[in-house]
Amino acid sequence: MAVLAGDGIGPEVVAEALKVVRAAGVELDTVDYDLGGARYLRTGEVLPDAVLDELRGFDAILLGAVGTPDVPPGVLERGLLLALRFALDLYVNLRPFESPDAGIDLVVIRENTEGAYAGEGGFLRKGTAQEIATQGSVNTRMGVERCVRFAFELAQQRPRKHLTLVHKTNVLTFAGDLWQRTFDDVGAEHPDVATGYDHVDAACIHLVERPERYDVVVTDNLFGDILTDLAGAIAGGIGLAASANLNPARTGPSLFEPVHGSAPDIVGTGRANPLAAIRSAAMMLDFLGEAGAAARMTKAVASATALTGTTTELGDAVAERL
Ligand code: IPM
Ligand code: MN
Repeated sequence: MAVLAGDGIGPEVVAEALKVVRAAGVELDTVDYDLGGARYLRTGEVLPDAVLDELRGFDAILLGAVGTPDVPPGVLERGLLLALRFALDLYVNLRPFESPDAGIDLVVIRENTEGAYAGEGGFLRKGTAQEIATQGSVNTRMGVERCVRFAFELAQQRPRKHLTLVHKTNVLTFAGDLWQRTFDDVGAEHPDVATGYDHVDAACIHLVERPERYDVVVTDNLFGDILTDLAGAIAGGIGLAASANLNPARTGPSLFEPVHGSAPDIVGTGRANPLAAIRSAAMMLDFLGEAGAAARMTKAVASATALTGTTTELGDAVAERL
């Protein structure tokens, strides 16, 4: 597997994740890649073609976090994170949230290659008083359907078998219509899955006030980005939130990363929570067929959420449980 530890707290949390993988009894061959803000500032490179080609050959990629305060917004987001999601066709962004005491046990399936993230748009008369900026949202039947299908198949495997579509069909009447029709069509093929629909604004209220309403949620790229930060906040904090960027067709590697960023304000203080990265590594093992080790790691993480300690102390505590 390729390890992109990245910037800020990325290397700190990735080290703990790899420590725990070893404690779970799984041997991995890893190759480190120097990508992120530090490399960009040193060389001007974000994701050289040759590196992308090498990454295509791995079974999986584990990413810590990228970003340093002195890199302009968009350079690493578009040039590295989104470039990897798009180039490797990581069309499902799977983000689980569990907090039993709060009644939270849900998974958000976020479409990961289209929508407002597709980069459609541009400027006209930039810098003048008549300036125009457009930013489109790209929604293809193929892209929506493969994501919705994955969500139905996941819901089918869970005890509650419930799937909610979250969108804004009352205002985004073109994209929303495509999503709703696709959801209904794929739903007809999965009669054992109970379905629901919530507008994204209402979903924000429900997530906070009655999160037990949700089992599996499927939504578009931008709504999924926002909703999963909210879900992280109500389920114990962003330091626990894990994610898998999946290519379910397995035509190349999938990428696993904590939802949080590089947190330059706490780098080196030992205050970075490694649990999100550890959980992300567990998702990686699960996807690679190491279901037993993955389940043990996930359980160990769940039993460690109430602990306090430094980054390495928490990593050690999870490793000891294994
Ligand atoms: C996330 C992040 C990214 C996103 C950024 C850093 C490009 O916020 O993974 O949720 O918007 O998808
Ligand atoms: Mn985000």
